[in-house]
Amino acid sequence: MNLSANQISAAVAESVAVVRAGWAECPRAAIILGTGLGSLAQHITIEAEWSYRDLPHFVRSTADGHRGRLLAGRLAGVPLIAMDGRFHAYEGYAAQQITFPVRVLAALGAEFLIVSNASGGMNPLLRSGDILLIDDHVNLMGNVGRALLPVSSEETGKSARPTFYDPRLLALAERYAADERIRVRRGTYVAMLGPNYETRAEYRWLRTHGDVVGMSTVPEVLVAHELGLPVVAFSMVTNVFRPDDVQQTTSEEVVNAAANAEPQLRRLVTKLLTSGH
Ligand code: HPA
Repeated sequence: MNLSANQISAAVAESVAVVRAGWAECPRAAIILGTGLGSLAQHITIEAEWSYRDLPHFVRSTADGHRGRLLAGRLAGVPLIAMDGRFHAYEGYAAQQITFPVRVLAALGAEFLIVSNASGGMNPLLRSGDILLIDDHVNLMGNVGRALLPVSSEETGKSARPTFYDPRLLALAERYAADERIRVRRGTYVAMLGPNYETRAEYRWLRTHGDVVGMSTVPEVLVAHELGLPVVAFSMVTNVFRPDDVQQTTSEEVVNAAANAEPQLRRLVTKLLTSGH
């Protein structure tokens, strides 16, 4: 798949029409629920839902801990639209396919995008269950720039140092975390293609470049930036790398740790949604 700008807008319009046929509200925000954080969906009062299978141009979610449905409804009374499960490059999908839903979420009128993911902690101060507020990234995923439309990739190229993570939302998230006594830290997310967790040698190399490592988020964030949709991104640290530890990370460990830490993230997300910023 490599669609032109016109083809993409036509495809987005088709998906939006399907959503609009079942839900007429304007979402305050959109949220992408990553690995293990799908349990946040249980707290959404669902008004309409679609399997990705039933949405035009959406591909399928195949990763562990990803349900594969779009939810429309309310969290703490505020209208929102949520992706329960996302798409990854390691599933074999092209950048345009992974990021297509972000274009739909923006077209539905979300004011901002909340992104969540699970990650491996590399900064020695991080513990399993910590929440990292992503304030920058290192993109080692390869050709995800192909998700962008040609015209905007030119513009992106022109801006010397793009800020992909909205400073105002970051500051608010930090303030709310302090109010709620939730420990958060700001840091850099390193995006790898996966699907394997990093080797010990890779971790040793990567930890000099970022605080956590994961396999998602960057494609969606690049497209949100192209669309002018402000992003706040939370990374749930589900496993930590210690150089002298010989244990391997497993996907079960990651999914369980994310589920355990979900209540704190839910409180933060609810606060961001309900506050009048
Ligand atoms: N590496 C990459 N992705 C991840 C990890 C990790 O250690 N943990 C959760 N997602």
